Amino acid sequence: MGHLRNDTCRVCKGSDLTRILSLGEHPPVDNFTDAEHLKDEKRYPLDVYFCGTCNLVQLLDVVAEDELFHGEYAYFSSASAPLVEHFRSYAEDLKNEQLQSGDLVIDIGSNDGVLLQNFVENYRVLGIEPSSNVAEIARQKGIETIDGFFTVEMAKKIVETHGKAKVVTANNVFAHIDDVDEIIRAVQELLTPDGVFVSESHYLLDLIEHREFDTVYHEHLCYYSVKPLIHLFDRFDMEVFDVRRIDVHGGSIRVYARRKSNAPVHSRVQDILSIEEQAGIHSLTRFNDFQKEVEEIRDKLVTLVRSFRKEGKIVTAYGAPAKGNTLLNFCGFNSHDIKYVTDTTPYKIGLLTPGSHIPVESPEILKTDTPDYILLLAWNYKDFILKKEQELRDRGAKFIIPIPTVEIV
Ligand code: TYD
Ligand code: ZN
Repeated sequence: MGHLRNDTCRVCKGSDLTRILSLGEHPPVDNFTDAEHLKDEKRYPLDVYFCGTCNLVQLLDVVAEDELFHGEYAYFSSASAPLVEHFRSYAEDLKNEQLQSGDLVIDIGSNDGVLLQNFVENYRVLGIEPSSNVAEIARQKGIETIDGFFTVEMAKKIVETHGKAKVVTANNVFAHIDDVDEIIRAVQELLTPDGVFVSESHYLLDLIEHREFDTVYHEHLCYYSVKPLIHLFDRFDMEVFDVRRIDVHGGSIRVYARRKSNAPVHSRVQDILSIEEQAGIHSLTRFNDFQKEVEEIRDKLVTLVRSFRKEGKIVTAYGAPAKGNTLLNFCGFNSHDIKYVTDTTPYKIGLLTPGSHIPVESPEILKTDTPDYILLLAWNYKDFILKKEQELRDRGAKFIIPIPTVEIV
């Protein structure tokens, strides 16, 4: 229950940790609430630290799982059309480069089967998803899914029933895990001797360069760059042999790892390490001004929204992503500032955003209602959404884009 505080680095176990950003105390971002439960809301610190030894950027405060998600888990990957397309093309890459038909692909944190659905025809698939309501959606699509937390013990059982996997994937889960050692050990159980572990994570370099401070929330324990990942795999006799920057979730990295071998390592690995080095993210001084840069965005947004409200304009928000709640709470917005927020996820509709208590409406409302300004919380889908909402914009609604710089379009 409640929360724990680590005093060592998750990757290298060192204790040379320095705080680089403090966003104050926030409720867990996926705890959408309702009028009866407002009094139960708890807040925990959102402080980000830099490890001077392996350079991992991370939270030290770990909120217990049962505090992170009350009730049902609200995140369905397939709710966002561009994400569905991303996983389709990701699957194409794996088919072309790593797999032969009939191979077993296991996805850890498989959500509603958004990646595995692309493999069902010619491959064997298995999903592992801790949220039973989400796992059930995947099963309805015909994707075998185990609900539970991924551990060494679970991995051993899977090998008995399914055999070993040529490819194990973990997308946007690696950063969520406190005990990363357990995950790597469990992945090693699952992999064939020449098996490949592929993970995608939000990329620290994009976070820092585009000031994506809102992607900081309690579920995201680590903000990875390639250097600490190499350090991590090395401790388990594994090596990173390829890495790609991916334009999803505001900028991600896809990292390919395998057991240490004599096979060549792609030059992209050294290239990206050099880019990180040059960008300064292997050194504490790069983060000196980050707090100030983030506060500048907050102050601009608050001034803008409050001045529109003073003029009697209606301001709403678009998308209720997890990161939107960090942004709303860091800005101190409530339902007087933002009248409502629309989101396509059925589960969120009818509830209130955590902390800021703004009602979540179905996007249907925008067919008849025309707000003056709409704060785009799902800014990672900016191009897609601006195009999709052209008609709304023709009616006079303007979008406020918060990240990477505040602009009105
Ligand atoms: P996303 O950015 O994928 O993730 P995170 O929660 O990790 O920040 O979340 C996008 C949210 O925005 C999701 O709740 C669905 C919603 N959404 C819309 O309401 N309309 C849209 O057109 C799109 C693309 C997303
Ligand atoms: Zn470290």
